[in-house]
Amino acid sequence: MRLVILILFAYLMGSIPTGFIITMKMLNIDIRKHGSGNVGATNAARKLGFKMGALVALADILKGFFPVLIAGFVLSNNYPASAIYLVGIAAILGHDNSIFLKFDGGKGVATTFGVMLGISPPGFLIMALIWLGISFTLKIVSVASLIGAFSLPVTAYILSGDYYQVLFAAIIFLSIVVTHRGNIQRLLRGEENPINLNDS
Ligand code: G3P
Repeated sequence: MRLVILILFAYLMGSIPTGFIITMKMLNIDIRKHGSGNVGATNAARKLGFKMGALVALADILKGFFPVLIAGFVLSNNYPASAIYLVGIAAILGHDNSIFLKFDGGKGVATTFGVMLGISPPGFLIMALIWLGISFTLKIVSVASLIGAFSLPVTAYILSGDYYQVLFAAIIFLSIVVTHRGNIQRLLRGEENPINLNDS
């Protein structure tokens, strides 16, 4: 029962449309009508500058981090270590399919970073290094996100060897593939939107 409540809480927390609220409240801009149309940090940075992107990223990271942090305290030893992943997946799915945006939403990358920071700091670090390395060299964030997310099941396997953790990490990777399907098509056509992360 505790786990079900935590999953519902995580979904609702992930659903809070932070990118939409921040850009609308601060600049009166509906970010969904600009750039890639995504409510996430990349599109905010692309259209509104690095600082706005960083602010949206921070809010989206916290949405993933808090539910798993709370779950870590609330779930006792009666639950397997992999149970916390279900809470994290709920937060990511809430972000991607927000109840407050008619089940529309973002692509889940920043929220995944928050979830992984709470569940597996080494997994977070490896994904973050891959993401930063590719973003700053290629300047195409979707590639950084896809390859970074692929590292999750790999690191879960190497670090835990627990097949449930690998499975749940693979589900997170697949959720990111699904939300990036438009990006993948643009990449295949050679038309993906780049980003200037040095923008002020
Ligand atoms: O985190 C989302 C990023 O991977 C792609 O965003 O706006 O380029 O579709 P965008």
